[in-house]
Amino acid sequence: MNSFDKSKPFNNLPLLPPKADLETKEILRKTIKASRALAQLNGAIRNLPNPSLFLDTIHLQEAKASSEIENIITTNDDLYRAVLADKKFDNPATKEVINHREAIWLGFRSLEKKPFITTNLCIEIVQCIKKNTAGIRTTPGTTLLNTKGEIIYTPPSGEDVIREKMANLETFIKNNDTIDPLIKMAISHYQFEAIHPFSDGNGRAGRILLLLQLKLEQLLDIPALFLSEYIIKHKNQYYKGLRAVTEKNDWSVFVIYMLDMVEKTAIKGLDRLESIIRLMEVTGAEIKEKLPKVYSKDLVEVIFKLPYTKRKNLIDIGLGTPKTVGNYLIELEEKGFLKSVKVGKEKLYLNHKLMNILET
Ligand SMILES: Nc1ncnc2c1ncn2[C@@H]1O[C@H](COP(=O)(O)OP(=O)(O)OP(=O)(O)O)[C@@H](O)[C@H]1O
Ligand SMILES: [Mg+2]
Repeated sequence: MNSFDKSKPFNNLPLLPPKADLETKEILRKTIKASRALAQLNGAIRNLPNPSLFLDTIHLQEAKASSEIENIITTNDDLYRAVLADKKFDNPATKEVINHREAIWLGFRSLEKKPFITTNLCIEIVQCIKKNTAGIRTTPGTTLLNTKGEIIYTPPSGEDVIREKMANLETFIKNNDTIDPLIKMAISHYQFEAIHPFSDGNGRAGRILLLLQLKLEQLLDIPALFLSEYIIKHKNQYYKGLRAVTEKNDWSVFVIYMLDMVEKTAIKGLDRLESIIRLMEVTGAEIKEKLPKVYSKDLVEVIFKLPYTKRKNLIDIGLGTPKTVGNYLIELEEKGFLKSVKVGKEKLYLNHKLMNILET
């Protein structure tokens, strides 16, 4: 029924919505579980006194994992130091991760202004990830290969064809309120990857779009989900699921996979968030007890904003002169709350317990 040939451009990629039953009992059951987990996470985020406090860290963790799928590996240490230190970091992997984080931000800001996911927004996102000006693919020849170098999929070819399919995807995301938003997100993700509008960065852009769709559907206020971590761990299943849709119009494996991803990562996200909040409370109480003159609520917040802190961060929120805040940091290190490292000419202070939570 479907004219798919893995070595020819799939210009017959069917438009959305899919001609398949996506409301089977199995899918609906999984949708309920995933929605429940996600709602719990979002509820916890809404109850935070200052939800934006964790934003930087969360974005960076997601950016790091998403880039790792493409074998862009950086360490947490490099990453957070690069964000904070004035010294220029020449590690290209770290730079790519930082670009990726910027692209997540760009997407969120754009949705706050205009609540639509458009082809142009996708172009902006991929340009931000890649730091180039490339747009939709115009030249033929893009193929997806497996690890042995064999062709497994050839996306549609021709700018007009790609734009037409992107326009259909855009409409599908905007309309179709009868499909559950999580199922819709899974379908859109397949379609975006199958269209493969760019010559590179489609995976990373597609994973950002997942977060944007959750935001658009008001299921998640801030992107506190580490979706990419799940995809790295279950990469083969992910590829298999995509292929089953293309080759057999079999959506269920892929949709279930995506729902499981939402459920598992929401549970883990909530767990991590609770651990960080607990650590923050305990640390705050201990600082108050051991260093009453150093303690303030703002100080505790600033050392939990990112795993690394520097003097300037304390000065910027009005905690004192360079000398005063310098002494605060020294005292915090002496009492074991922070550990200092020298990066170039600067001293950065690591909240190692926070870093430990991020690494589990
Ligand atoms: N058979 C397939 N059909 C459709 N899309 C696929 C298939 N196999 C993989 N993909 C998608 O293509 C992406 C890779 O494309 P591309 O290299 O343009 O993106 P990337 O962001 O550079 O890479 P990565 O996703 O590996 O980080 C994968 O992440 C996946 O989403
Ligand atoms: Mg690539």
